[in-house]
Amino acid sequence: MSFESMALGPLIGSEVFATPEQLLQPGVGPALRSLLVERGVLVFREINLSDEQQVALAASMGALREEGEKNIFKITLDQNANERAEYLKGSWLWHIDGTHDSVPVFASLLSGRVLSATGGQTEFANSYAAYEALSPQMKERIGGLRVVHSFKTSMRNAGIAPTEANVAYWNSIPDRTHNLVWTHASGRKSLVIGCHADHVEGMDPAESAALLQELLTWATRPEFVYRHEWTPGDLLIWDNTGVLHRAEPYPLDSGREMHRTTLLGEEAFS
Ligand code: OGA
Ligand code: MN
Repeated sequence: MSFESMALGPLIGSEVFATPEQLLQPGVGPALRSLLVERGVLVFREINLSDEQQVALAASMGALREEGEKNIFKITLDQNANERAEYLKGSWLWHIDGTHDSVPVFASLLSGRVLSATGGQTEFANSYAAYEALSPQMKERIGGLRVVHSFKTSMRNAGIAPTEANVAYWNSIPDRTHNLVWTHASGRKSLVIGCHADHVEGMDPAESAALLQELLTWATRPEFVYRHEWTPGDLLIWDNTGVLHRAEPYPLDSGREMHRTTLLGEEAFS
């Protein structure tokens, strides 16, 4: 194999050591993909991929979702670059991307281009490991539960102004109901929770809110979390189907800019 890797903790994260040229060798994409599914997050420190190399690496791992320009989507709070930039504040809370789709995206590649002087680090929590470590009683309790996920709830939780135009847009994205425990085709199970989780179907509202909060607090305990402190040129890849993620808040005018490429999902929540 043309890369080496080292676990960054027992339950989440591996650092991969390779040059861009080694990563783009035939056969490396599928090997990285297996490591990603096993470890949740892969870290390539100061690898300094060009946009084209990033897209080529992503394409070697799966089918690309069309986003941004030539599959490079710029994450920035600069309103001139993205008219809904403010919505990115939703990424400051623990979340899974695409809970308003039936098939969520599989994975994202994120390169640090311009960092914020303060804040803007990124954290990941392994939702497979968090499920696995629950007590048998809790597994029993949540086994059959279904949760309604709402874009509006995530925007409200993020404190984004409910202007008429915003609310009209939020309401245009239909709610989705998913099993609280996702049994993947592999047989592994993970928790589907985050700032978009509105309520447990059919449960008393106070009990539902308490349960969702308890599970989120559990799943984001330090042993399940990898926190990435960025250096320009770092690349991260995360398995969106098995980790929660969030960015630490950063100033709106920080200039922070990350380049993202996303792999299409292959499995529906189930
Ligand atoms: C995302 C995301 C976090 C970050 O791209 O989906 O949540 O640190 N990004 O920018
Ligand atoms: Mn995200």
